[in-house]
Amino acid sequence: MRLRKAARIILVGAPGVGKGTQAERLLQRFPQLSAISSGDLLRDNVKNQTALGIKAESTMKSGALVPDAMILRLILHELKTRGWVKPSGTQSMSLSSAAASAAQQDFDNDMYVEQPSLAQSSPQTSDDPSASFILDGFPRTASQASQLDSLIPINLVVSLKTPFSIILERIAGRYVHAPSGRVYNTTFNAPRVPGKDDVTGEPLVKRDDDDEATWQARLKKFEETSEPLLEHYAKKGVLWEVQGNSSDEITPALFGEFERRFGGGELS
Ligand SMILES: *[C@@H]1O[C@H](CO)[C@@H](O)[C@H](O)[C@H]1NC(C)=O
Ligand SMILES: *[C@@H]1O[C@H](CO)[C@@H](O)[C@H](O)[C@H]1NC(C)=O
Ligand SMILES: *[C@@H]1O[C@H](CO)[C@@H](O)[C@H](O)[C@H]1NC(C)=O
Repeated sequence: MRLRKAARIILVGAPGVGKGTQAERLLQRFPQLSAISSGDLLRDNVKNQTALGIKAESTMKSGALVPDAMILRLILHELKTRGWVKPSGTQSMSLSSAAASAAQQDFDNDMYVEQPSLAQSSPQTSDDPSASFILDGFPRTASQASQLDSLIPINLVVSLKTPFSIILERIAGRYVHAPSGRVYNTTFNAPRVPGKDDVTGEPLVKRDDDDEATWQARLKKFEETSEPLLEHYAKKGVLWEVQGNSSDEITPALFGEFERRFGGGELS
């Protein structure tokens, strides 16, 4: 299905809700969508030893978190490389603070200021449907979201909701055969012999992610940061929530909403 205008979207959901599954399905259904992952950008830049990659690597080696401003630059640079964002004139450099000029020198000739929210003019984001993407890994907090807003306006934030009891049930029932990666779950596709792989008869184990205490801890952290994040986007009028007990229940609703908002382009 083709898009009529650019979709710049973010999926938000608790651990285990199936965010990755929905993202994959969207990418398949709407071929003009690309996946942009801040984690991948970081890894690629480190691997390629770009100026920013070298900087990020030394930050991580010192044990510190990569600052938001650096992640923003990675994203902005990627979108510029793809031709989806253009600097709007030269006013932003009229700030000409030491920080701004230093930042400019150390990363190509990119338009960039240390605190992007201080930029006096935002870059121009392309509205061409081919400039559509799902942004993954960033922003996670409301503060990151407002920094991103000043650079790249996200136009749909999908909040994926599944009752926690159901996610937990799914996690509790999931077992894997580690050598082959075969996944079993006690409700939908139980192994023929409890606790044993169907093919080899070897014992099944739980993945580390599927430990309940681990999940509870991740959930708590998610709830703390996602609440203000979602509130931020609700105020901007770009938040849409979808509920379902399974990924298969959520997907059709998500596709429908996506088509309403961005679809309907002429097939060409
Ligand atoms: C890293 O290098 C590869 C191969 O040259 C290139 O395709 C890719 O775009 C580069 N990525 C970044 C972030 O520099
Ligand atoms: C159970 O396992 C099957 C096969 O791996 C998978 O397709 C299904 O989504 C799983 N269901 C749950 C609830 O985890
Ligand atoms: C989803 O699960 C809840 C129980 O947690 C149940 O009450 C509800 O009927 C289920 N919804 C659907 C559509 O199956």
